[in-house]
Amino acid sequence: MTMDRAVRAWLTKTFGGDVRFDEPMSRHTSFRVGGPAEALVRPREKDDLVRLVCWAAEQGIARMPLGAGSNMLVRENGIKGIVIVLDNCHTSIIENDPTSAVACITAGAGAKLAALCAYALKNGLKGLNFALGIPGTVGGSIRVNAGARNGSMADVIDSISVLLPQGSFRDLKKSALDFYYRGLDWPKDLALEDGGDPIILEAALRLQRGDKRDLKKQAEQIMRQRKAQQPWRDASAGCIFKNPEGEQSAGQLIDMAGLKGKSIGDAEVSSCHANFIINRGQATADDVLALMDLVRSTVFQRYQIQLETEVKIVG
Ligand code: EPU
Repeated sequence: MTMDRAVRAWLTKTFGGDVRFDEPMSRHTSFRVGGPAEALVRPREKDDLVRLVCWAAEQGIARMPLGAGSNMLVRENGIKGIVIVLDNCHTSIIENDPTSAVACITAGAGAKLAALCAYALKNGLKGLNFALGIPGTVGGSIRVNAGARNGSMADVIDSISVLLPQGSFRDLKKSALDFYYRGLDWPKDLALEDGGDPIILEAALRLQRGDKRDLKKQAEQIMRQRKAQQPWRDASAGCIFKNPEGEQSAGQLIDMAGLKGKSIGDAEVSSCHANFIINRGQATADDVLALMDLVRSTVFQRYQIQLETEVKIVG
């Protein structure tokens, strides 16, 4: 990795202990896999974040926002440029007007989805059942439109505010955002060509009011089910493939193809849920990618269905 000395010096001077160089991404992803990021910064204030983004744009340095790293596979050669983690700022969750009929919540992009679900349960707000047990952050889960069979982030978003590559802010209503199954397209007029993705700072969500006790009961049942059906104790990136169109889910197809327990190196198709690849300890990105290829080609040979990757592959 070859990050310029002057670049390192500026980052160190500006962010002190909140910047790390050649930081293994295996420490920042739920898969526990991945080579080093040239630099990883955790800004403490919005102003620091804006300064960093503007400076990176001026210097022509790539930067990538990172949520909880729970839907990501980083290759062994790591990430060029700066990974920006928002877990030091933009983590608050507040309700704007607790007396209104429909609840409007403002949630920081760096807040954990689990914290948002806990807030909703505590305050008797419904609409987030689909998010129970999803391990991401608010920002990351909006970017990939995280969800389950009973809903996704697009269902609860009212608007989001973003930081654009050159340092300006925009509020985007849901109608301006093109959400699709496990993804989001930015409005065409955002002019992002040379600066990469906008960084989501916070979101306004609309939730319904409900009975606290009923909501808690439902949530406990959903979590029990999730824990029984998914390998939540193992390192993984959640479901590895998107569900294809049609009756059968990716997990069902992989299971029917007899691939549960199949492994390459320390990467293994989970015996609990076949659409999860788990890291038994020392898996490399190459192991995971080779196993994904094997799964994809086996399912294609058997069922003529092409599985599409759900996890984001970077590096
Ligand atoms: N199934 C099998 N074998 C398996 C796994 C599943 O036969 O190894 C069967 C199940 O019995 C069920 C069907 O496949 O009949 C669907 O399984 P499941 O209910 O687990 O749902 P899924 O479609 O596999 C989706 C999301 C999950 C989310 C669950 C919660 C996708 C790709 N996956 O899984 O999201 O947690 O619903 O209901 O949309 C993720 O996105 O990372 C993720 C894990």
